[in-house]
Amino acid sequence: MTSSSLMKCVLLFIGALVVVTSSVDAQLSTTFYASKCPNVTAKVADVVKGWIKSDRQMGPALLRLYFHDCFVRGCDASALLDGSQSEKQAAGNLNSLRGFNIIDDVKAKVEAMCPGVVSCADILALSAKEAMEAFGGITWTVTLGRRDGTVSSVTEANNDLPPPFANFTQLVSLFAKKGLTMKDMVILSGAHSVGFTRCATIQSRLYSFSTVTPTDPTIEPSFATSLKKQCKQGDQNTIIKMDQSKSTDTWDFNYYSNVIKGKVVFQSDQTLRTDSAALKIVQAQNKAGGPFNSEFQAAMLKLGNLGVLTGKQGQIRKKCNKIN
Ligand code: HEM
Ligand SMILES: *[C@@H]1O[C@H](CO)[C@@H](O)[C@H](O)[C@H]1NC(C)=O
Ligand SMILES: *[C@@H]1O[C@H](CO)[C@@H](O)[C@H](O)[C@H]1NC(C)=O
Repeated sequence: MTSSSLMKCVLLFIGALVVVTSSVDAQLSTTFYASKCPNVTAKVADVVKGWIKSDRQMGPALLRLYFHDCFVRGCDASALLDGSQSEKQAAGNLNSLRGFNIIDDVKAKVEAMCPGVVSCADILALSAKEAMEAFGGITWTVTLGRRDGTVSSVTEANNDLPPPFANFTQLVSLFAKKGLTMKDMVILSGAHSVGFTRCATIQSRLYSFSTVTPTDPTIEPSFATSLKKQCKQGDQNTIIKMDQSKSTDTWDFNYYSNVIKGKVVFQSDQTLRTDSAALKIVQAQNKAGGPFNSEFQAAMLKLGNLGVLTGKQGQIRKKCNKIN
């Protein structure tokens, strides 16, 4: 064998290895844009930080936007598409998801720098992470290389997104449908340490729970009184902090102690103490300095891998709200 044919053999072998590994894995990587758009992360950080500086609430909003995208059809930016039958119209999204304007702004600035290169799905992943980092207290690794989908369905979103009145069994099965475990569900629910809910979302829990009792009896009584003060009967518009145990919205461990005390806003949150295995996880998280952050980071990485389009699948949208 000549040295050049030996070299060809070696290259072929390496090539085969790359093909084998990439077909096994989700194919995302932290360095995906290293040569195609090397400054994309810095640019996204820059733009998103500006927005968070003027409105801190947008940190949690972008985290939720990312969650809702990944949970329906995978992380393919389907949540961003306009349309009378798109995910935006779903019960869990309509008048509720926020931050679309920020994503559009980031996308425009990234397009100006690297036209046609960075997907909206990746911009969403990076923006959520940068936003929460600027918000303070939590970060996670973002892998890249997602491509954008061309389909967005209100029916799928209504079927897949967990509703706030879900019981434990329903939550576990909705997460299992996505390949996520009960523990992933409990850990990711810790995101409700931050952010806001509309009073509309908790009206029935406070005022028309059942024919037996107007108020959900699992709400700790003084907490119910306090929620009713902030959300008067019929109030659909006011927004209130989900973690009421603090005066400023910060990333912390309070969520899990709130679950234990009966001081969480949704039935879905409260249901985490109704199952003994879940309660054990809740109790383990309810320790300052506990493993919440690292477990949350691992779960976010898993979330970011859901149903991703890679390689030649999908497209790189020019604008995030419509397909090319
Ligand atoms: C376990 C099932 C879950 C349910 C039932 C649920 C439900 C909800 C609801 C109903 C709201 C308030 C919407 C409104 O009133 O407009 C909300 C807000 C929020 N959720 Fe969840 N969620 C769940 C899991 C998650 C996960 C896994 C994450 C992220 C990893 C997340 C992040 C957030 C954030 C950050 C907010 C605040 C958004 C804002 O302030 O704009 N949630 N969630
Ligand atoms: C990368 O982007 C950041 C933030 O927008 C900017 O400050 C920096 O100058 C950029 N670097 C290069 C090499 O373009
Ligand atoms: C949970 O909700 C589903 C759907 O409403 C219901 O069929 C099921 O019986 C509930 N499970 C429990 C344990 O309450």
